[in-house]
Amino acid sequence: MAGTHGAALDRYAPLIRDWDAFVRATTEPRPTCVVANGNRIGADGLAALLDADACPIEPVHWTQGALRVPPPARPGGWWPAQAGLYQIQEEASLLPVHLLAPEPGERVLDLCSAPGGKAAQIAMALGNTGTVLANDKDSRRLAAVRDKMKRLGLVNLTACVHDAGDFPLAAGMFDRVLVDAPCSAEGTNARSGAGYERSERTFRHWVGGQQRALLRRAVKLTRPGGRIVYSTCSFAPEENEAVVESVLRDLPGEVYPVQVNVGSLPADPGVAVWGDHAFDQEVVENAVRLWPHRSGTGGFFAIALERPANATVYAPDPAEVEPAAPGEPADRTAILDPLVHRFGLDPADLSGLKLWEAGDHVHATAEDHRPPGRPRPTASGVPFTRRGARWPKPTTAAALMLGDAASRNVVALDRAQVDAYQARQAVQPRPEQLAACDGRGHVLLHFQGVSLGVGFLHPGDGDTPATIESQFPRAWMR
Ligand SMILES: C[S@@+](CC[C@H](N)C(=O)[O-])C[C@H]1O[C@@H](n2cnc3c(N)ncnc32)[C@H](O)[C@@H]1O
Repeated sequence: MAGTHGAALDRYAPLIRDWDAFVRATTEPRPTCVVANGNRIGADGLAALLDADACPIEPVHWTQGALRVPPPARPGGWWPAQAGLYQIQEEASLLPVHLLAPEPGERVLDLCSAPGGKAAQIAMALGNTGTVLANDKDSRRLAAVRDKMKRLGLVNLTACVHDAGDFPLAAGMFDRVLVDAPCSAEGTNARSGAGYERSERTFRHWVGGQQRALLRRAVKLTRPGGRIVYSTCSFAPEENEAVVESVLRDLPGEVYPVQVNVGSLPADPGVAVWGDHAFDQEVVENAVRLWPHRSGTGGFFAIALERPANATVYAPDPAEVEPAAPGEPADRTAILDPLVHRFGLDPADLSGLKLWEAGDHVHATAEDHRPPGRPRPTASGVPFTRRGARWPKPTTAAALMLGDAASRNVVALDRAQVDAYQARQAVQPRPEQLAACDGRGHVLLHFQGVSLGVGFLHPGDGDTPATIESQFPRAWMR
């Protein structure tokens, strides 16, 4: 059957026992996964909410916080996605962060982060504490990371633009570093056939050099005792086992592969022999490979590496690194008091936030978020309020973060009103829906206890009915 669906994959026929099943699997639609935004809702709560909305889901048992949505459902368009309750990932893409296993309060670097799925997953796993630095060399692709920061309320994430192979050691050491490397992407693009033409020898040779440089840099940026995950969505041993083996050889005693637990995920070890080369046994045994016909996911390779406690220190201790200031420190009382008063918020819910004035907005970051000054951040945390606004108004990002706890000037919408609001149409509230409102001004909109964003209430009078103007961001519309 070799040769039926793209000559570039035929080279893997010697590695795959059931070739026909492999070929079939690369053309079948795959389920999508949603990862609960633990800052706002747990996986069980999200499952109940989606279930109640008649959206088909099942839990992903091998990792935490994820639910599987069978095709052809498109969860990106559902209202809870717009409300920042989850992040969408292909199941195979959950693997690198599962292996990275980040912990609250840590300092984590994602060297190749755009469009930001895994950086968001890391930031959510840290529970909005600590520091996630999401780097990419492509500033346009980083726009998608910024969008996720706002929608998911990631106050512990900073984005920056730099060539990862040359990432400044001056940024200081990290507890964990993810290298989700640029690759020939055969594992994700198999269905469309896109990417096959890139899987040529010259591309593979070039990208292999890049991948080695990125992984070497990642090792030098990780503290002794810290963890690195290297991953690609390519099947090619040249981009996977060979890259890891060569970096282990270049940096002897500095880093070693570690065993990981992927539970019920049907995963395979690394490729043992390719051509006439037998790979390092430690790499083969500890690597995790997903072959689509066996795992029911896209193709993926990932391996976790750790630095020994006595490893060489290449970068400064983070405590000695001058942190970046995302702006001028803002006057907390002047900004928060009007919001607390109008929306009946609990000031304790705001105590973990630092506020900064920059550009048109006041921005919020986590109290313990300390991004380095180099490379220079392009965005930190979430825009919180507009500077100099006439009315106390949280941004939609702030409303999604804090609005669940609001008790005044809140309007609980019905399902049809939610669709109208998220389509930026005016909503006509019934009088009983305005019971918690005290007149003209901004209101927070809820559905099933979940904050959806901000509207502007025109209360109406005897002749004109009350109206809520939708202030849902145009750029977020489905
Ligand atoms: C596989 S994608 C990363 C996907 C991302 N981790 C996610 O989960 O959404 C690889 C990324 O590497 C970036 N990249 C390629 N070469 C790079 C380099 N030398 N330095 C930094 N980023 C690079 C690309 O722009 C691309 O966004």
